[in-house]
Amino acid sequence: EQDPRISKISSAIRVIPNFPKPGIMFQDITTLLLDTKAFRDTIDLFVERYRGKDISVVAGIEARGFIFGPPIALAIGAKFVPMRKPNKLPGEVISEEYSLEYGTDKMEMHVGAVQAGERALIIDDLIATGGTLCAAIRLLERVGVQVVECACVIELPELKGRERLGDKPLFVLVSSD
Ligand code: PRP
Repeated sequence: EQDPRISKISSAIRVIPNFPKPGIMFQDITTLLLDTKAFRDTIDLFVERYRGKDISVVAGIEARGFIFGPPIALAIGAKFVPMRKPNKLPGEVISEEYSLEYGTDKMEMHVGAVQAGERALIIDDLIATGGTLCAAIRLLERVGVQVVECACVIELPELKGRERLGDKPLFVLVSSD
């Protein structure tokens, strides 16, 4: 009794082997964006889940969270807040480091974009190890924002990112193994 829209969304995502390096099966959502029905259904499934939940912030993670986040934010009446790679945001920022396979990266958010007590949803295209979402959660919680849930189009369950999120709820449309 999976929603019938899910299988179409799943088949609209293209998998490209050995990109960006050998052994990686890249989940390419650009083909989902070409399928107007599947793209709309993707946004609708999130909107149906989050409408009326008193969410005032949709935080989108660079880069592909910037594609899915804004239409969801507009539809549920929330503001959109970009969570960016370092040195991209022009105003005062707070930042969080997170670990990659080799080394670390940083995520930044504008100070003043969100207020303590707000309820946020975090959106990205994909959860792999979960390190990126964890950094986004820390950024928002540091300034007193309540992260209601994280939502992604795709989960790679083998990488156990869901476990890394602890008891923070994660909602995904498609699991890819
Ligand atoms: C991908 C993906 C997520 C992140 C997930 O982004 O879009 O943001 O990795 O990985 P994790 O769960 O292991 O942290 P990528 O690093 O390719 O950056 P990009 O969106 O700027 O291309």
